[in-house]
Amino acid sequence: MDLFSCIDLEPTRQRMEELAKLIDQYNYEYYMNDKSLVSDFEFDKLLRELIDLEQMHPDLAQPNSPTKRVGGEINKTFKQVTHRFPMLSLGNTYSLDEIREFEERTRKLLGDTPYSYTCELKYDGVAIGLTYKHGALVQAVTRGNGAVGDDITSNARTIPTIPLKLRGDFPDDFEARGEVVYPFDEFEAMNRQREADGDEPFANPRNAASGSLKLQDSRECAKRKLQFCMYFMMMPESAEENAYPQYATHYSRLQSAKQMGFKVQPFIKECANIAEIMDFINYWDKERWNLPYAIDGIVIKVNQVGLWNTMGLTAKSPRWAIAYKFKAERVSTPLESVSFQVGRTGIVTPVANMAPVWLGGTTVRRATLNNADFIQSLDIRKGDHLLIEKGGEIIPKVVGVDMEHRDPYASPIAYAQVCPVCGTPLVREAGESGYYCPNQDGCPPQIVGRLEHFVARRAMNIDSLGTERLQLLYDKGMVRNIADLYDLKREQLIGLETEADAATGNRSSIQEKGADNIISAISQSREIPFERVLFALGIRFVGEVGAKKLARFFKDIDLLMQASVEELAQVEDIGEKTAAFIYDYFHNPEHIAIIARLKEAGLQFSCSNTQVSDHLGGKTFVVSGVFSRFSRDEIKASIEAHGGKVSSSISGKTDFVLAGEKMGPEKLKKAEKLGVSIINEEQYLQMIGE
Ligand code: IVH
Repeated sequence: MDLFSCIDLEPTRQRMEELAKLIDQYNYEYYMNDKSLVSDFEFDKLLRELIDLEQMHPDLAQPNSPTKRVGGEINKTFKQVTHRFPMLSLGNTYSLDEIREFEERTRKLLGDTPYSYTCELKYDGVAIGLTYKHGALVQAVTRGNGAVGDDITSNARTIPTIPLKLRGDFPDDFEARGEVVYPFDEFEAMNRQREADGDEPFANPRNAASGSLKLQDSRECAKRKLQFCMYFMMMPESAEENAYPQYATHYSRLQSAKQMGFKVQPFIKECANIAEIMDFINYWDKERWNLPYAIDGIVIKVNQVGLWNTMGLTAKSPRWAIAYKFKAERVSTPLESVSFQVGRTGIVTPVANMAPVWLGGTTVRRATLNNADFIQSLDIRKGDHLLIEKGGEIIPKVVGVDMEHRDPYASPIAYAQVCPVCGTPLVREAGESGYYCPNQDGCPPQIVGRLEHFVARRAMNIDSLGTERLQLLYDKGMVRNIADLYDLKREQLIGLETEADAATGNRSSIQEKGADNIISAISQSREIPFERVLFALGIRFVGEVGAKKLARFFKDIDLLMQASVEELAQVEDIGEKTAAFIYDYFHNPEHIAIIARLKEAGLQFSCSNTQVSDHLGGKTFVVSGVFSRFSRDEIKASIEAHGGKVSSSISGKTDFVLAGEKMGPEKLKKAEKLGVSIINEEQYLQMIGE
């Protein structure tokens, strides 16, 4: 029975409504008008109150509550949705002449009918469509193939510039279309963090936006700083014919959208003729580098919505719009030298040092040459002039050699034979495109890199030690390997600063509080389970999954260290090559000494400590939805700690589906069909005796 069923819930409902209104208003002012009406503390307090009330009274929680911004819904798969209005693509061109032809065609077609154009930015992100009914966001769908896309509503709700409820006047039923972009600065910050956490960085902001929208845990999506740039308002034809005058032009639609609470970029212009269109294109061709996000062109549309039907469609795209795509800017500049950089894993990357050249809003001096194969495929030689391009993105790329400047006697680039940092002869393995330095334990960038990997969130989670501090500890000779971290003393850390900071008087030395945080994070890492310690060691080719499988198989570091290559290769997912690396790693006297010191320091080197009970007796669980007591990772760890197994999909072998809030309907159906027992969090806690 509902504990609250005998209590009058009206005052609670009113308070929840009041909180939602306040939070919505503060969010709106913050994201739309850059205004903070309350302190972060006050804001968090109100949000917390609403979250708690929603948890106590799930029936009163609103689908578009501002608490949805924080995320919490899990999407194991994304439902496929057929677009109500297909998401067409635009005809596009790199040629200004073709833009002139478009304008001429339009003029001929429309004759005496009065019309104008709009010119706006072509955002380089991920297209999505948002359906609003009666002023509430009901669904967000990616473009997909134009006809069918993925339902990403729970992730879209976390994007602050997507209104959940509209303000003022709005059509009852319409779709807002636009592009989700990842602003450059946020993108770079996120990539830096990913590297520090041991995750693969994204190649560019568009990939990052796309990957973020497809995150299964919307709480993670909420942490990404995505932005929605609206560029289109789509209404059922009946509504268009009824012609709300304020929605008669594309320009006025976007202005109305701004009143409704959308963040509409201000860079849209009504143009009367081709000269104004060309001015707009030329202006943004140069100015685009000063925008905080990537664009790859300009979109020109006929402004009068009523004319769109008259003009119609070609096979794939409307006749009333066209996109002009900016050419990647390309320059030629002399190659002065090639230097070689050593990464954390020992991979050596050649870098072109070039005569400084102005390209796409910045001066370029250096660009990666990727690896030996890349240099060979472009046939880059000493003294060449290189062709450098910058597209819509931040990083300039070497795309070729400017043969006009090729000296016929130019000699090939001498590739490094030894590590530029430690002097060890480089190694290239069969089938690999690059060389690497095999001196794992003596090469400084590799040592610091391994320290970074060791402290990463997914490994030992010593978050108060970032790259700079690790480099500092290394430079000062205080930490030369992972075991040294456990000998650090608070007193040694206080007042530490880099030589550069000391020289410039930059006050960035470690203070008492900072030292305490470092020591306490190191100390807490002693509780990290064996499988993560094993991953943290950074054995080549042993990732998170491999480490888990090895830990479960051998249960103890001593047994693992004694295993032969053949025994190691028996573990699921561990191939011969990885087995050989593991074997070598554990037979290296330096590693043996480090592990002995880590054992001494109290790290977890066996599974037995994580095994709490055998209450679940080998039963297989599938976890779905959101839980109040556990995060997803915690509940999985808990199942395993109590002797159960976790599987990702429901099958005849599944014993229980552990269903949290908002379990996917697909899963529910499948579980019911196969007759698998479905239990909730409460029942699970009973099973494990809590
Ligand atoms: S209008 C029917 N406006 O470019 C016309 N599209 O091929 C609907 N895009 O994937 C599109 N910025 O996502 C329009 N200001 C803008 C745009 C824009 C980017 C994307 C769009 C689509 C592609 C068009």
